[in-house]
Amino acid sequence: MILVFGSINIDLVARVAAIPRPGETVLSPRCDTLFGGKGANQAVAAARASLPGRVAIAACVGDDAFGQTARDNLRRNGVAVDFVAASSEPTGCAFITVDERGENAITVASGANAALTEAAVPASAIDATTVSVFQMEVPFAAALSVARRVRNAGGRVIWNFAPAPAAFRASDLSDLIGTTDVFVVNEHEAVMAAAILGRATTDIEEAGAFLSRTGGGICVVTAGARGGFAFHPDGRHETAAVAPIQPVDTTGAGDTFVGILASSLDEDLAFSAALGRACRGASLACLAHGAQTGMPTRRQLDHSA
Ligand code: RIB
Ligand code: NA
Repeated sequence: MILVFGSINIDLVARVAAIPRPGETVLSPRCDTLFGGKGANQAVAAARASLPGRVAIAACVGDDAFGQTARDNLRRNGVAVDFVAASSEPTGCAFITVDERGENAITVASGANAALTEAAVPASAIDATTVSVFQMEVPFAAALSVARRVRNAGGRVIWNFAPAPAAFRASDLSDLIGTTDVFVVNEHEAVMAAAILGRATTDIEEAGAFLSRTGGGICVVTAGARGGFAFHPDGRHETAAVAPIQPVDTTGAGDTFVGILASSLDEDLAFSAALGRACRGASLACLAHGAQTGMPTRRQLDHSA
């Protein structure tokens, strides 16, 4: 089973010619209200890629209309919401601008996501078959505590270091990667994570290999149009290329990657096959507006192989 511990947001999205700079105002034709949040996105991507009934999310939403529609959306996508708690804080919101090239800038107003605790996950939700998935939009201490419980039960931990916090303690990152089987970063996050742990480099291969060796697990670096790279602690590494595309909206591409990776590991695919499948899915997701709209179904993924 796949257990995602993470954020649920409603995304308020405006398409613009160019993302505004500080002090600048730009016009956009309209605001789209879409489903998002890295946790929810990863759970939906995993559920679409998996056989029915494999995915649950532990999260926290507000006692408001956004929280209700976000839950309904997860259910419709085949994600179990039994571990979604309600808070007096409002449901998380993300303010997103997407430019003509499909690049985005995002501000997340955390709201209820900040109230998520490890208590949302009952002991019965974790066992040796659990593939758990974490990101950085909910309280870190709570996430780490759930990850440790998964490891102690013999399950696996995937951790997506996104969004990479501006300030993060080296000791916290050591704890994080030491509790993680697969650490997933984009190029920017790879450089940041390596720097936090004392290795200053802008070389993705050096950063990925360093992070894998330091944590003792696999480090995956996603590199957009250049595909994905996996670094194993024994020094091996693998690459998955992606076919060239014209991206419409890259929002949620990383989340799609992580969700499909979790689904593939849940099905015990070889790591290189899982990497390729996740890269294909992430690239398909960039062909539609919004984080979840373009996430492929299991059938679409198989057909793209
Ligand atoms: O990764 C994309 C997501 O980041 C968006 O859906 C938004 O909610 C933010 O959490
Ligand atoms: Na998209």
